[in-house]
Amino acid sequence: MSDYHKIYADWKSDPENFWQSAATAIDWYKPADKVFDPDVGVYGRWFVGAECNTCYNCLDRHVKDGRGEQAAIIYDSPITGAKRIISYDDLLEEVSTFAAGLKDLGVKTGDRVIVYMPMVPEAAVAMLACARIGAVHSVVFGGFAPNELATRIDDAKPKLIISASCGIEPGRVIAYKPLLDEAIEIAAHKPDATIVLQRQQAPAEMKVGRDHDWAGLLQKMRSKGAQADCVSLKATDPLYILYTSGTTGEPKGVERDNGGHMVALKWSMHAVYGIEPGEVFWAASDVGWVVGHSYIVYGPLLHGCTAIMFEGKPVGTPDAGVFWRIISEHKVAALFTAPTAFRAIKKEDPDGKLFKNYDVSCMRTLFLAGERADPDTIQWAENLLGVPVIDHWWQTESGWPMASNPVGLGMLPVKYGSPTVALPGYKIDVVDDSGYKMATGELGAVVVKLPLPPGFLPTLWQNDERFRQSYLTTFPGYYETADAGYIDEDGYLFIMSRTDDIINVAGHRLSTGGMEEVLASHPDVAECAVLGIADKLKGQVPVGFVVLKAGVNRDPAEIEKECVQLVREKIGAVAALRVVMNAIRLPKTRSGKILRGTIAKIADGQEWKMPATIDDPAILDEITEVLQSRGLVAVAVE
Ligand code: COA
Ligand code: AMP
Repeated sequence: MSDYHKIYADWKSDPENFWQSAATAIDWYKPADKVFDPDVGVYGRWFVGAECNTCYNCLDRHVKDGRGEQAAIIYDSPITGAKRIISYDDLLEEVSTFAAGLKDLGVKTGDRVIVYMPMVPEAAVAMLACARIGAVHSVVFGGFAPNELATRIDDAKPKLIISASCGIEPGRVIAYKPLLDEAIEIAAHKPDATIVLQRQQAPAEMKVGRDHDWAGLLQKMRSKGAQADCVSLKATDPLYILYTSGTTGEPKGVERDNGGHMVALKWSMHAVYGIEPGEVFWAASDVGWVVGHSYIVYGPLLHGCTAIMFEGKPVGTPDAGVFWRIISEHKVAALFTAPTAFRAIKKEDPDGKLFKNYDVSCMRTLFLAGERADPDTIQWAENLLGVPVIDHWWQTESGWPMASNPVGLGMLPVKYGSPTVALPGYKIDVVDDSGYKMATGELGAVVVKLPLPPGFLPTLWQNDERFRQSYLTTFPGYYETADAGYIDEDGYLFIMSRTDDIINVAGHRLSTGGMEEVLASHPDVAECAVLGIADKLKGQVPVGFVVLKAGVNRDPAEIEKECVQLVREKIGAVAALRVVMNAIRLPKTRSGKILRGTIAKIADGQEWKMPATIDDPAILDEITEVLQSRGLVAVAVE
């Protein structure tokens, strides 16, 4: 029997009491004056008046409680061959020393610090050191190009940037330092300094006066015996900013606070993930994404767990057995990753031959999120692993799951294709365009009733107005998730697609609008469209169409290649835009809206209807021919 229904009802009847009780699992310097104050912030704020420190709760309190010798982070890097076990004692020492280094370089409480790093433990050290002194970190995914980094520099206006000399992708070393230098060059805002972790695969050249060597800084602080203490922060002070794709090329700076975030994450570790302190939790993601923030770094450490920091890929580093090796070697109790990772493993090793080489009996549960988990993949993983596979749904903005099968509260029956039910904190509805509730089983916009729970974004970084406009105005009284789905007769939620131009490529959230902005900047391009089509491995991949300016008589194939390259340069390889096609015209409505959805349906081999408002139906035939000429019609679906 699951306690879920009782606990959800408890939350619903008295949310403040529910979260106040969850807050007792956190150490506070000062308790809240008000658990929730509806009169401050955009929709209210949690734990108003409370004081706390996130780093203290992640490290110091565990050391005080006797966890000092337990591994806090296990770094396992099949791509470099490196492994390192960092105890809570050692992590506390390194974080306090590095935090002293940040202060030495002039970083103060409230200053922003950008972290642009690969999957090395120093990325977590940098985040925790910022949290310790109340600096606001903003981690930028290493796969983003200088232009994207520059946009974030200009919005966050960091005092300092922490980076590494390189990241490593299969078959190639990516020198980060030139990318960082270029981003600083492009950005209008200039940080005072950088700290660079030198990696032997590609040491970086340092700019005298501006760039500081990570190891040198630590050594300098250690020789002085300098360590920084935790500062007491307001629960509502920002812990971090994480930029995520919006509907335009301008990323949204999702702000996260200290108090509510700790309460929600700590609660989720047991209630959602069924994990106990001291166990090993592995989120196979990247610190650059929200999953990495919440469940590589903060969640496991707040809960006194051991977190795995994995620098590798599910396949090819060295093979499709690496996940099983990590689980058995480090005794992982639960793994969290994106369905794409399992599709990649299934493709390489469909019969699970490599799986048979490892004892993974320590693993109790597999969690999937980041994109729709297709029932085939879930069933394959379930059969292989012999453990429950939990699809759960959340987004950068929420910071922790909105819907899940709550393992710690007692599992509910699994329905393939559904992330199960709304968690305490979330009243989820499905509504039509006018905000009226849809009938059971009917597809509509998925919305969350205000106020949002602890841990959810309180606002966008220094932009309350954009926060309101982007999320709170379409459906008054609700937060708009921009996902479409339905709720069935048992209250199970099904998330089917996005309602905006965001696509999910290999679990990475990308804006097709952002890619269109890049294609439109090509001098020969008159207009363009980017849309996501189904892909067996990555879930979705973007494809682009360009209409060339009149009078351009260069080889279109050349221009197509330049467009692909331009997106790699401006957004980064992670955009995964590999196909750009020249078209004579784009199909539009009479009011000039490009029919992206219809093109995607044609490509995916789905049924589609001729839109009543189409300007010229013949253009859809032309586009179908272009897609067919590239073998892109319905190849992506079975
Ligand atoms: N730094 C630099 N480049 C990066 C990068 C990083 N951190 N991460 C990805 N890239 C590059 C890749 O090398 C690739 O470059 P290429 O076009 O030159 O080959 C490109 O960005 C696209 O990457 P990706 O979409 O990840 O495709 P892939 O073929 O390299 O790998 C998977 C496919 C399925 C193995 C991979 O996407 C994966 O491991 N996914 C797991 C899911 C995941 O971690 N999701 C995060 C949210 S939970
Ligand atoms: P991100 O902010 O990068 O975490 O991406 C969030 C988006 O990913 C959501 O708005 C959904 O569109 C999608 N997503 C995340 N988890 C799931 C899931 N379990 N099922 C379907 N879509 C999901």
